[in-house]
Amino acid sequence: MLPPRPSQPLLALVFALALLVALVVPPAQAAEPTLGELAAAKGRYFGSATDNPELTDAPYVAILGSEFNSITPGNSMKWDATEPQRGQFSFARGDEVVALAQRNSQRVRGHTLVWHSQLPGWVSNGGFPATELRSILQNHVTTVATHFKGKLAHWDVVNEPFNEDGTFRDSVFYRTLGQSYIADALRAARAADPAAKLYINDYNTDGLGAKSDGMYNLVKSLKAQGVPIDGVGFQGHLALQYGFPYKMQENLRRFADLGVDVAITELDIRMNLPADATKLATQATWYSDVTKACLAVSRCVGITIWDYTDKYSWIPSVFPGEGAALPYDENLRPKPAYNALRTALGGTPGDPGPTAACAVAYKVESQWNAGFTAAVTVTNRGTTPINGWRLTFAFPGDQKVTQGWNAGWSQTGRDVTAANASWNGTLAAGASASIGFNASYTGTNAAPATFALNGTACRAS
Ligand code: XIL
Repeated sequence: MLPPRPSQPLLALVFALALLVALVVPPAQAAEPTLGELAAAKGRYFGSATDNPELTDAPYVAILGSEFNSITPGNSMKWDATEPQRGQFSFARGDEVVALAQRNSQRVRGHTLVWHSQLPGWVSNGGFPATELRSILQNHVTTVATHFKGKLAHWDVVNEPFNEDGTFRDSVFYRTLGQSYIADALRAARAADPAAKLYINDYNTDGLGAKSDGMYNLVKSLKAQGVPIDGVGFQGHLALQYGFPYKMQENLRRFADLGVDVAITELDIRMNLPADATKLATQATWYSDVTKACLAVSRCVGITIWDYTDKYSWIPSVFPGEGAALPYDENLRPKPAYNALRTALGGTPGDPGPTAACAVAYKVESQWNAGFTAAVTVTNRGTTPINGWRLTFAFPGDQKVTQGWNAGWSQTGRDVTAANASWNGTLAAGASASIGFNASYTGTNAAPATFALNGTACRAS
């Protein structure tokens, strides 16, 4: 028997009701895609350098964890950090960066195994004969790359081997071993961590010129000899007053044509201070142009900026009177360069202010068979203070909050609300509140997919 057919007037009523609901209930506000997501849609990554002392800054860490899909430790994998005394290795700070990346599902570029700078005195002033220095270098590369084996997507195996005229830099390694130190380092790195892509990295090689010719000839000869080399890193430390790199896209392409990947590894675009609207607009164009040059070359695998905020840029301390080099200002607010990057990556200029006025970091801190403890950091990413807030999210499974702190917690079905406590209801621009709870669960304990603060979608990290 056929089910009874609804009458015509009833159908009309259902339709009218559905239309009414569609009109009055606003759709859930989707968060803008991040730089990392936009790059991923183009088969690339978009990363940032970071450094261990910055990781106590919760608003900073929230954006680092959400906006980027790759991070690079700015200092903690360098020789002075990993082998400060001969044979004494120290990996705690490098491990901290790797663990952070893993929590945020980010890849890591390892930086760097062999470099003339931040090299401890025991290596640079040791006066070692060639055989001994070669074994010191091989031991360092082997031990460090073995420690991080399987955890890094790339290694900058050799950093800054060239002079400005394209000849080899007179480091202790070149002076003692000649250019063979480069092949030795690459071979040791490959043997220790076969999955990591091995890079040589340098600055002022971004465009065509004598220095990039030196790099080009080196890579060509390494490839011809069968030395393991997977990629070339172009640091991209640019300065408005020196002009944009000459024919950057052609330069990236000629390297790719040698059969290696290329990556922009340390991008920042500094200017003489004070910054002004004109300089910031030019800077935005340059960020866009670098991105376009990378996207135009299929083997350009990604871009890393050398930290993302002027708050933590290395520029002012090394280039006095210069700065404002990064896409976020010192208060973690996006600059014109941020939107230029979004647009160049195929997105819309969505300033994260209105669409992601908040960021939420949700971390399961411990978990046992039937329960878990979670820490939640709520960050005001808007430009004005928030006075009074309610965080809402839904559990994907049967999780039930049993006890919470630093907020008033309630739950109906899967829907959880955390209302501010009396002492943390005011969140200044950039400020965070740390709250948490214990909960029960059965089966799997997946994290909530979306969060909203006072009804507006937040960026999850
Ligand atoms: C810089 C770090 O950002 C600083 O914190 C440190 O004091 C000096 O080194 N090229 C590189 C990076 O390959 O390792 C450098 O990083 C910047 C220039």
